[in-house]
Amino acid sequence: MTLPSRSLGLIACAAALCNSVGYNCHPTCIPPSIPANESSKLSFGKYYVVLNLDVENGAVIPYENNTAGKAWISNLACWIHAVHRQSPPPLSIYTAVAYVNSHKLELGVQSGEAVPFVRNGAPELFGAADTKTTKIYERFYVNETAGDVVLPKARFYAGAGNQLEEILRAQKIDTVVLSGIATSGVVLATALRLFDLDYNVYVVLNNTFQAGAKTSNQEVNEVILTGILPLLPVKVITLEQAVDALGRSGPAKY
Ligand SMILES: *[C@@H]1O[C@H](CO)[C@@H](O)[C@H](O)[C@H]1NC(C)=O
Ligand SMILES: *[C@@H]1O[C@H](CO)[C@@H](O)[C@H](O)[C@H]1NC(C)=O
Ligand SMILES: *[C@@H]1O[C@H](CO)[C@@H](O)[C@H](O)[C@H]1NC(C)=O
Ligand SMILES: *[C@@H]1O[C@H](CO)[C@@H](O)[C@H](O)[C@H]1NC(C)=O
Repeated sequence: MTLPSRSLGLIACAAALCNSVGYNCHPTCIPPSIPANESSKLSFGKYYVVLNLDVENGAVIPYENNTAGKAWISNLACWIHAVHRQSPPPLSIYTAVAYVNSHKLELGVQSGEAVPFVRNGAPELFGAADTKTTKIYERFYVNETAGDVVLPKARFYAGAGNQLEEILRAQKIDTVVLSGIATSGVVLATALRLFDLDYNVYVVLNNTFQAGAKTSNQEVNEVILTGILPLLPVKVITLEQAVDALGRSGPAKY
């Protein structure tokens, strides 16, 4: 029997699920904004793109061996795999914090803490374009043959200083599905901005990560996902709801 690509995606995800308790269940499971009784109708339509935000080595590697980071990485890898399994696959756009050259001119001469990513030692974490630091983390496999795109940026919003909005507009995209690191930075900034630009915005809650080791970071993550985003309203969904919705979406157009 040949399984449709959706089922294969789900099986691949199920395998990843077994290895992970899920970052978002620490300390409590964050509820999605779309209730279970309504998730069976969830679809991203045909004109949707998948945005994997700031998942370059510089941002991901520091967390690859801690419990929360491992769960997040396996969730997001599972999601990217399921997306690539669609036939045809939707457009996947990745963003990477990447400065124009090793002088990191975007940080400014007197940046102090005043520009994004300067806090938390970010100038050391992030590098110039085309270095190992700014490459997408290997498990988040960029399939250039399939048309996956990587956009550089030096501010929080995914479309800051790059072609994101031109691509979305030119391809008549109406729906975006967000994952990434960190929830309080690129995910929040991008959800707000694209919602303002009239896109249907979804955030896959298990695929978000609030960087940092403090327990208060979990509270920040929870407040953003359950308190702020659903108010807009941006739809906050689980990985399971998202993978399921893929099967009802498409064929993807762009
Ligand atoms: C995703 O999050 C939901 C709600 O917090 C949880 O029930 C589910 O187990 C999580 N899935 C994974 C793969 O962690
Ligand atoms: C889902 O349940 C909520 C209450 O929990 C209810 O308000 C809503 O109408 C239900 N939706 C559907 C499609 O049945
Ligand atoms: C995580 O563990 C792997 C395997 O032991 C190792 O190769 C890698 O360097 C570690 N990463 C970090 C950031 O310590
Ligand atoms: C990459 O995309 C191409 C074109 O859609 C596809 O044929 C190929 O199988 C993909 N590679 C992987 C490893 O998914």
